[in-house]
Amino acid sequence: MVSGGMTCVKYLLFCFNLLFAISGLAILVVGVIAHLRIYAQYSNFVYPSYQAAPIILITVGVIIFLISFFGCCGALKENHCMIITFSVLLGIILIGEIAAGVVGYINRNEVELMLDNKLNSTMYQYYTSKDIQRTWDVAQHELECCGMNGADDWQKVNRNYSLPHTCCPNTQNDGSCTKGSDHYKASCIEKLQSLLVKYASVIGAAGLGIAGFQVLGIIFACALARHIRKEYETV
Ligand SMILES: *[C@@H]1O[C@H](CO)[C@@H](O)[C@H](O)[C@H]1NC(C)=O
Ligand SMILES: *[C@@H]1O[C@H](CO)[C@@H](O)[C@H](O)[C@H]1NC(C)=O
Repeated sequence: MVSGGMTCVKYLLFCFNLLFAISGLAILVVGVIAHLRIYAQYSNFVYPSYQAAPIILITVGVIIFLISFFGCCGALKENHCMIITFSVLLGIILIGEIAAGVVGYINRNEVELMLDNKLNSTMYQYYTSKDIQRTWDVAQHELECCGMNGADDWQKVNRNYSLPHTCCPNTQNDGSCTKGSDHYKASCIEKLQSLLVKYASVIGAAGLGIAGFQVLGIIFACALARHIRKEYETV
């Protein structure tokens, strides 16, 4: 049995792992919400290669949850091997997180280009694809916006004054929504960008917080593991 200050480290490691398990669950939940709130609704505005992002979040959440289980057991059982395994896994996750953060930061402009490209091209398919029509209707209704940069865009696309009914609040799909009616003025691309920025900031801040925890966890775990080994050697 470890004693004195090390008992304290042992329980700190245990508590830390509980927090860690909770953060794993939180990442999982954010992944699920991002999937439902952004990807399921706006899949037509997103490149297929980006569809994996929430799945990665969900997977990372599950992995962190499992790793914290190792850490908890290792701390309670004072098992040297489990604690070392735990620290190594934690280190790998930490490196992965830093890499993901850097890649995300470097590619942040690409998301803007993607939206520019996708919103523009899908506007021209509004009347020919039911699926794209649904995505645009959801976007305009939920984000209270009209067209990519404003209602004028629909005029360019349609070559008449008709607007999709979702450009007007509470209007039936009966052709009554036009440039002359009370329609949303906001640009959908700006609204969509601020929604994405909101998600990215939450994920980024959570990531930084968790990374800080991980560094602490690795330090605790190493201290405990070293102490346990020393005890074995003296016995
Ligand atoms: C889409 O992009 C093309 C080419 O840049 C541009 O001419 C057109 O006006 C854009 N359409 C809309 C609706 O913004
Ligand atoms: C305006 O153009 C759209 C797309 O071409 C068409 O579906 C719609 O019926 C037109 N509206 C009017 C009033 O002509």
